Amino acid sequence: MPVLDYEPMVFAPRAGAAAPLSTIQEEVLELKRVRRAVILAHNYQVDEIQRVADYVGDSLGLSYHAQAAQADVILFCGVHFMAETAKIVNPGRTVLLPDLNAGCSLSDSCPAERLAAHKAAHPEAYVVAYINCSAGVKALSDVICTSGNAVKIVNRVPADREILFVPDQNLGQWVAQQTGRAMKLWPGSCYAHVQFTVRALEKVRAKFPGAPVVAHPECVQAVRDLADEVCSTELMVKFARENPAQEIIVLTESGMLHRLRREVPGKTFIAGPTDSCACNDCRFMKMNTIEKVRDALKNLVPVIEVPEPIRSAALIPIQRMLDWSKT
Ligand code: 13P
Ligand code: SF4
Repeated sequence: MPVLDYEPMVFAPRAGAAAPLSTIQEEVLELKRVRRAVILAHNYQVDEIQRVADYVGDSLGLSYHAQAAQADVILFCGVHFMAETAKIVNPGRTVLLPDLNAGCSLSDSCPAERLAAHKAAHPEAYVVAYINCSAGVKALSDVICTSGNAVKIVNRVPADREILFVPDQNLGQWVAQQTGRAMKLWPGSCYAHVQFTVRALEKVRAKFPGAPVVAHPECVQAVRDLADEVCSTELMVKFARENPAQEIIVLTESGMLHRLRREVPGKTFIAGPTDSCACNDCRFMKMNTIEKVRDALKNLVPVIEVPEPIRSAALIPIQRMLDWSKT
C-alpha cells in the first residue's frame, strides 16, 4: 500500500536573479544561431531546456508557433506527437526531437488501426481527436483539439453529429460536462495524470489550507471535482497571475512549476503529489536533456518525418482546429 510519507515539493519564489546559463546552455544557444534553428519547448520540459527555448507553452501555442516558424530547423523539446504535429503544419523545415523514444502513453492507447476498425463499424461518428495522438490517428479524424480549446472545438461540431472523442477519456468526460454534449469516449488515459488521487490531494491541502488547486483535465473526475480551476497548462499561468492567492497547488506534470515560478514571481507553487511521490514527472517528457538538445543541434538528428499521404490527411483536421480556435 502506498505510504504518503513524503514532504510536499514546494517551489518558493527565487531569492535574487536567476543563475547564469551553464556552459552547455551557452553552447546550445550558439548552435541554435549557427543552425538557424528555433527551439520550441513544452511546459513539462526541465528548467535547463525551458531557459534556452524561444517559446515555452502548451500544445496549442506550440502548434501555432511551429506553423509560423521561419527558421531552417525546429528543435522540438516535447514528445513525439508534438514534433510530428510541427512537421505536419510546417513540412518545409527540418524538425528535430532530442530523444525519439519520447512517446506518450495516451497517444499509444489509440493505435490508428483500431480507430480505423471502429470507424468502419461506425461510419457516422464525427471523430474529435485530442492532439495527443499519432499522425495516423489525426489523418482519420474530423477535427483536432487540445486541452486549451477542447470546449470551443466540441461546441463547433454540428449538433446532429454523434461525436467519438479519442483518446483521453478523462478530458473527454470533462468536455462533455462543460458542453452538455453527449460523446462516446475512447478508453485511453495519461499514465501520469491518473496518478493524482483524492487522498494525496487532501494530504497536501491539509498542509496548505486555503491554497487554491488548479488541475489539468487529464486528471480523473474525483480529483477534478476538488479543483478550483481545471485548465490547460497555458491557462494555469493565467490562473496563477489572476488569482489573489500567494500559494497555489498545481496538479499536473512537475515541469510546469518551473514556468510558473519564472513567469509569476513572488508566489509559491506546490507540486501536486501522488500516493507515492511528492511530484509527478512524465517519464517521456523527461527523456529530453540539455545534452541531447545540444547533440541534436550539433548532428541534426533525430529527424521527424511523416509520410506525405498521412501528413496531408492529418493537416486537414489540425488546420480546422487552428482556424476554429481563432474565431
Ligand atoms: P497541454 O496542452 O495542456 O500543455 O497538455 C499537454 C499534455 O501532454 C498534458 O499531459
Ligand atoms: Fe502523454 Fe501524459 Fe506525458 Fe502528457 S504527461 S505527454 S499525456 S504521458
